[in-house]
Amino acid sequence: MAKDTLILAFESSCDETSVAVVKNGVEILSNIVATQIQSHQRFGGVVPEVASRHHIEWITRCIHQALETAQVDYQDLDAVAVTYGPGLVGSLLIGVTAAKTVAWAHHLPLVPINHMEGHIYAARFVGEFQFPQMALLVSGGHTELVYMPSEHEYEIIGETRDDAAGEAYDKIGRVLGVNYPAGKTIDEWAHQGQDTFHFPRAMEKEANLDFSFSGLKSAFINTCHNADQRGEQLNKYDLAASFQQSVVDVLTEKTLRALGEYPVKQLILAGGVAANQGLRERLKNEMHKNFPDVTMLQAPLKYCGDNAAMIGAAAEVAYRHGDRAGNDLNAVPGLSFPVNKKE
Ligand code: KG4
Ligand code: ZN
Repeated sequence: MAKDTLILAFESSCDETSVAVVKNGVEILSNIVATQIQSHQRFGGVVPEVASRHHIEWITRCIHQALETAQVDYQDLDAVAVTYGPGLVGSLLIGVTAAKTVAWAHHLPLVPINHMEGHIYAARFVGEFQFPQMALLVSGGHTELVYMPSEHEYEIIGETRDDAAGEAYDKIGRVLGVNYPAGKTIDEWAHQGQDTFHFPRAMEKEANLDFSFSGLKSAFINTCHNADQRGEQLNKYDLAASFQQSVVDVLTEKTLRALGEYPVKQLILAGGVAANQGLRERLKNEMHKNFPDVTMLQAPLKYCGDNAAMIGAAAEVAYRHGDRAGNDLNAVPGLSFPVNKKE
């Protein structure tokens, strides 16, 4: 029987400090997530410098807790993995420095991981991956369709030309007085309202795989401001439902188009916005109707947002493929696919 692979994984790209121990890429022995949301809420978004300061305070506590909860010691580990981009540079640097230090002190290999690759692998906790595969990656910073011909090969085939889907949720949430991050609340409100405003579906019918959400965001904000000026009170549940319907329509339409152009065995839905109930239900139904032979894995709700367990899941694959970083590993805030990390 093959030996188990135990990886200590670090994630600090935005506002969650997280350390996990993952066995063989699929079994989460621990996943410690220290969230800073409350510190950023009063600013209506993540303040980079505040985020870095939180990471530095929490990272060692997270390491100790992750090892203790998993009941493993440094000598049981096979590798250390870390998100080195994309993300906020000051935040990434804390995780990268901590991971490097642990790897150096304990003579362990260091495996560099792309944050978005990590989001994809969160779906590994619900089922086995099959290739060729496609992922719809929807988060606060990214909205991408990624084609994976085989394990560890990534190609972006579609992406947003302006705002990410999560960013649009957070911006319209602010107009409605919802605390950052707004996605979850807007999703809940959407289920209590109707699409009465019929906001635009940008690029929905265009023959490409790209997205755009800034027009929708502007239409939403204009509708609210105009009503304000007239002294009219709009129904917040209908506003949320109309916004969500537009986002879900476009994401679904483009994903189906991509599946028509790139035949795959499996579709992955991942990233913070993958927690959206409207999107999960709609994609499931449309896949069943249009692509019954393509299996779908949706990242578990608990692992849609940023966490180190997903980095550990991706790292097991990268480790097997020989990805290694040296002590000169740096944060790469604008890191993109394809992944190419061999020294
Ligand atoms: O992946 P993530 O945790 O961080 C980034 O890598 O960006 O995604 C966070 C984003 C936020 O914009 C948040 O509002 C959104 O995911 N989000 C949701 C839901 N839950 C979180 N958006 C829509 N519906 C949800 N249920
Ligand atoms: Zn993320």
